[in-house]
Amino acid sequence: MIQFKQNIRGNVALGINPVGLKQEVLNQINYVKNKGTYEGPKKVLIIGASSSYGLATRINLTFGAGADTIGVSFEKGPKNEKNLGTAGWYNNIAFKEAAEKEGLVAKNFVQDAFSHESKQEVIDYIKNEFGGKVDLVVYSLASGRRTDPDTKETYTSSIKAIGEPVVGPNINMQNEAFYTETLDPATDQEIHDTVKVMGGEDWELWMKALKEADVLADNVLTTNYSYLGTELNRPYYGGGTLGRAKADCDEKTENINELLRDINGKALIVVATAVTTKASSVIPFFPVYCIGLYKIMEEKGTHETPIMHQDRIYRDMIYGNNPEYDEIGRLRPDSWELDSDTQAKTKELILKLNQDNFNTDLTAYDLFYKEFSNLSGFMVDGYVEQEVTIDELKALKY
Ligand code: NAI
Repeated sequence: MIQFKQNIRGNVALGINPVGLKQEVLNQINYVKNKGTYEGPKKVLIIGASSSYGLATRINLTFGAGADTIGVSFEKGPKNEKNLGTAGWYNNIAFKEAAEKEGLVAKNFVQDAFSHESKQEVIDYIKNEFGGKVDLVVYSLASGRRTDPDTKETYTSSIKAIGEPVVGPNINMQNEAFYTETLDPATDQEIHDTVKVMGGEDWELWMKALKEADVLADNVLTTNYSYLGTELNRPYYGGGTLGRAKADCDEKTENINELLRDINGKALIVVATAVTTKASSVIPFFPVYCIGLYKIMEEKGTHETPIMHQDRIYRDMIYGNNPEYDEIGRLRPDSWELDSDTQAKTKELILKLNQDNFNTDLTAYDLFYKEFSNLSGFMVDGYVEQEVTIDELKALKY
């Protein structure tokens, strides 16, 4: 029997618990099922489908709208008892099992979404086995590296400020430390490379390939998740390298809208709320913002996990009656986070934090830590311990 151990280095989770991950997927499915069904898309492609926002979107559309889905992700399976693979690997498996029980299609492609070959394989599958067309394409990739499919050059993204260095508080969950961090400004090359990885180029390449292959239905919608944040995180997010990448996605929206014009399609940037994910935990200073923000949002009853947020985005906003758009047409479910009273109180709280109080009831540290642990299958509600062997894990198929 394998002992599943939570192992954190800095703010990066190394250990996983596949049994807990399955339970966490089931918990999210139950959240959606308890809200009932709604009228939505039926054939969906999700690029970046195996964790956090992409997974929550997939669960929501499957169990809320009854959609068949194709999920693309980059994950690793188990090798031995010490190397069980990545969380997303088991999320894909648990999701597929549950969706197929409902009689729905849940096809997983585990491969590099940035390559031309991946796009072609997905297109062939849509044509030959998925009914020929998709009516929604969700782009939810987060990656530190991207190999350009034409030049084969590999780019690495950097999370850095632009212009001036940023100095501020951060936390380290491994040793429960609160410390001051300095974030250097990026070079022009680093800005360029971050836009190459996290900007909209690959999204546009996907949409071009899908359009050319004639696998997009009339009125197709494509969504891409962005983050804008507030003055509290602008110096290192919106005003930094990641902000540049997100601005590039805004620009690419215009090209994609042009591309989809003749089939009445639409590209939509969804500015999503701050949530605890593998990616957001390693953004410098961001965890401090989260433990302050979540505390205030919990008190106001507006704190959301990815599944809650995605359910509101698709059920209530995009396919419901309450969409909120900004002046350039982006969907703004982040309005709860940006609420001026929420921000003022978050700022006041963050300014009070130090080593002695950051992990007390004053903040939502415990909640952030639990959500972070859930991503690896630990501290999951409803978890029941089970004996599992490495051979059983290796036999699981996505
Ligand atoms: P995540 O790290 O939990 O998930 C990323 C997904 O991309 C996974 O399914 C992973 O397998 C897949 N992926 C990565 N590289 C790949 C590759 N080469 N080929 C195929 N799949 C690959 O990320 P998260 O946090 O859910 O982010 C998704 C999007 O949401 C990002 O654009 C992010 O900026 C955005 N967002 C995140 C917020 C947050 O607070 N975490 C807030 C607002 C937007």
